Amino acid sequence: MMVAAALVLPVTVLGSEAELLDEAWMDYEQAEETQDWEEPEQAYEGQDWEGTGLDYMVLVNKLNPLPDGWEDTIETVSVANAEGYDVEVEAETYAAFMALKADLESEEGIILGVSSAYRSTEQQQEIMNSYVEEYGAEEAKMLAAEPGYSEHQTGLALDIYYILADGSEGDSEDAEASSPVWERIHARLADYGFILRYPEGKEYITGYAYEPWHIRYLDDIWAAEEIMADDITLEEYLGAEFAGDAVEEDGSKADAEDEADAVKAADAEDEADAARASDAEEADAVNAADAVDETDAVKAEDALEQVEP
Ligand code: DAL
Ligand code: ZN
Repeated sequence: MMVAAALVLPVTVLGSEAELLDEAWMDYEQAEETQDWEEPEQAYEGQDWEGTGLDYMVLVNKLNPLPDGWEDTIETVSVANAEGYDVEVEAETYAAFMALKADLESEEGIILGVSSAYRSTEQQQEIMNSYVEEYGAEEAKMLAAEPGYSEHQTGLALDIYYILADGSEGDSEDAEASSPVWERIHARLADYGFILRYPEGKEYITGYAYEPWHIRYLDDIWAAEEIMADDITLEEYLGAEFAGDAVEEDGSKADAEDEADAVKAADAEDEADAARASDAEEADAVNAADAVDETDAVKAEDALEQVEP
C-alpha cells in the first residue's frame, strides 16, 4: 500500500468547550494554510480520480470478505486525528471527504473529523477482541466485523465525529437515532459520493447495529444519491444477499428473508391503515361540509322567510 502526505484535522479533545472550539478553528485555519492535499474537484463527480482501478462499489460484509490483493492496490493518505494518532484513508475517499467537510462547515457550521478509517486485519482483530471483552461475543458481532470482513479494510469507510459551535460533539459513542445533527450530516453525504452504510432498521440486511458515524465512499454519485434517497442499503442496491445475523450459517438465510418479508408486510399494512384513515378523514370532512351547507341553507331560508312580507 502506498501512503501519501500527513495532514492535520481540526479538532483536539482537551479544554473547556469554548477553548475546544477556538482551538478547533485555529487548527483548521492552520491546516488550510499549510494544506498539501489536492483540491477534490473531481472526487465527487463519479470519476476514477487517480485512475487507481479500484472498484469503489466493492461489497465487503459478513458474507463477502475483502477481495484478494486489495491492500496492494489502494493508495492512502495519512491523517492526524483528534486523539493524536494517524489514520489512513484511501486517497480519493479522502478528497471527497474534504469536500463534504468544507460544505458542512460553511453551510451548516458542523466541523467533521475522522476517528477511524483504513484498518489492517490485525487492527480489526484488536477491535473485535476489545468488543468481545466489553460486550460479549454475541453483541460484539453486531458492532464489529470479523477480521478480513470489515469494510474499514477497504480504506473507503470512515468513522466520523462532529463538533458544533457550542462545543457539543458527536462520535461513535453517540448512537442516538434521532440526533438532528447526524441527520443534517447524512443529508449531504450523497452529494459527495458517500452513503450511510449501516442505517437504522436495516440490521437484518447489513448484519450490524445502526452506526450514524460510519460512512462509505462510492465513486458513483448517482448510486449514492439513489441509496440515500430511497433509504436502502448497499446490499439492496447491488441486489446482494442479506448479511444479517440470521444469514450467517446453517441455512438460516430464510430467517433473514422472512424478516424482510415481515417488515415489508408490516409496511404495506401501515400504508393500508394510513390510506383507510385518510379515506375516513375525507369522508368525515365531506359529511361535516354537507352538514354546514345544510345548516346554512336552512338559516338562509329562515332569514328569507322572516323578511318576506
Ligand atoms: N463497525 C463495523 C461494522 C466494522 O467493524 O467494520
Ligand atoms: Zn466504522
